[in-house]
Amino acid sequence: MTQEELFKKLIAHCKEYGFIFPSSEIYDGLGAVYDYGQNGVELKNNIKSYWWDSMVKLHENIVGIDAAIFMHPRVWEASGHVGAFNDPLIDNKDSKKRYRADVLVEDWMAKQEEKIEKEVEKAHKRFKENFNREQYLATSPRVLEIKAKMDAVHERFATALNDNNLEELKQIILDCEIVCPISGTRNWTDVRQFNLMFSTQMGSTADGANTVYLRPETAQGIFVNYLNVQKTGRMKLPFGIAQIGKAFRNEIVARQFIFRMREFEQMEMQFFVQPGTEMQWWSEWKETRMAWHRALGFGDENYRFHDHDKLAHYANAATDIEFNFPFGFKEVEGIHSRTDFDLGRHQEFSGKKIQYFDPERGESYVPYVVETSIGVDRMFLQIMSAAYTEEKLENGEERVVLRIPAALAPTKVAVLPLVKKDGLPEVARQIIDDLKYDYTVVYDEKDSIGKRYRRQDAIGTPFCVTVDHDTLNDGMVTVRHRDTMQQERVKIEDLRAMVEKAVSFRELFKKIKA
Ligand code: GAP
Repeated sequence: MTQEELFKKLIAHCKEYGFIFPSSEIYDGLGAVYDYGQNGVELKNNIKSYWWDSMVKLHENIVGIDAAIFMHPRVWEASGHVGAFNDPLIDNKDSKKRYRADVLVEDWMAKQEEKIEKEVEKAHKRFKENFNREQYLATSPRVLEIKAKMDAVHERFATALNDNNLEELKQIILDCEIVCPISGTRNWTDVRQFNLMFSTQMGSTADGANTVYLRPETAQGIFVNYLNVQKTGRMKLPFGIAQIGKAFRNEIVARQFIFRMREFEQMEMQFFVQPGTEMQWWSEWKETRMAWHRALGFGDENYRFHDHDKLAHYANAATDIEFNFPFGFKEVEGIHSRTDFDLGRHQEFSGKKIQYFDPERGESYVPYVVETSIGVDRMFLQIMSAAYTEEKLENGEERVVLRIPAALAPTKVAVLPLVKKDGLPEVARQIIDDLKYDYTVVYDEKDSIGKRYRRQDAIGTPFCVTVDHDTLNDGMVTVRHRDTMQQERVKIEDLRAMVEKAVSFRELFKKIKA
């Protein structure tokens, strides 16, 4: 199965098992907007708890807020989003399709990397056990040729982005002979800038109306509350403010399912530090955030850092944590050193003094900020991509199993009476009553046990607990483990401890340096 086929199956699975539905589907959907179903919302809530607890519970000096989506329009002038929150777009004149010019070039570069990998594979087959990857990469004329071309394009691309040189961006697309995937032609328009913010009117009449924006990032809600939180919480530098909330961007190209949406959710933390210490904190947060991802156990090799070619208008350093999605390594999270840009601009635009009195230094200054910013939906897609597994069993049957880490699984336990009579459903209900205040638990009595196991595998339930006739005599149940499919007899009174050990965040948090 190719990665593309796998991704299609994953999307279908998300719909079939109540994880994600297209928005307003009975009206044929709305581009790049999705709804989370009954299982999706549980997984999403667990992702948010994993993040929130790792920030707010594990750090004495990080507190949370929940700011409104609508903000004073001047906020977005001060932040630079009105003037500079743009994507470069380009149209293909034949297909009439619109693309992000920078994404076309990035995709071209990813293709060159694939070409190199193919060369490596071919050589590996040819030289078998004598093959030395490093040596081949360093000496193969074909690989060196591709690399040299890539490096040259990369340098031109980074310069064009930083200089906002749209003509050069188009020239790179032409020079790389990039074609429209729909029409197959190179008949491109010029590259233009496109502002990504959605706007609407606040006020009852058009006359008295004010243009307000749907926030394109949650961070600004934190910046404008910096003084409120610092003063009321008597916070001392360094300290952080965390927030989870919706953000909106009028993305030009909405592709790859929930990877790039027009309405999405962010989990952002702004860490306020003494000027001059920001690089040290930036490095520290990079490591902490990478550990948070890797703790989920999807394989360290599936993550990497990617430093930005073009720094956003507010940053002096920025890196992405990328995950190996079925469509390649792509950004899940950004870690940005935002300097004093935002607080400084809000101080200037609002006319209010936004400073910190540092008792150690005996002076007041605008703090610097290191930000960690992750999309809930991208994290969701990361987990689903890594967890989705098709397996051929020893008996020839096939199963689809979601190997979601138990702490994040939408349902923790399914309780299944072997038959619908003889008092077994009543015992199953008692078990549920004992567990339901602490865990998401379901009851299922329909179909054969095998079919019920498959249904739970498909939504990633770590434990199936079967109540049978022996249970009535020995007070034990059969626990079937999702990943290994191993079964064991467990006393009913030991169930809670077994579930707690597996689903608590404790084990994950132990792997993160806090
Ligand atoms: N406050 C900084 C900021 O918003 P960003 O790199 O533009 O930085 C941060 O976005 C994260 O938000 C990204 O790493 C990604 O996970 C998520 N994100 C951004 N745009 C998105 C979109 N259109 N759909 C889904 N997630 C998105």
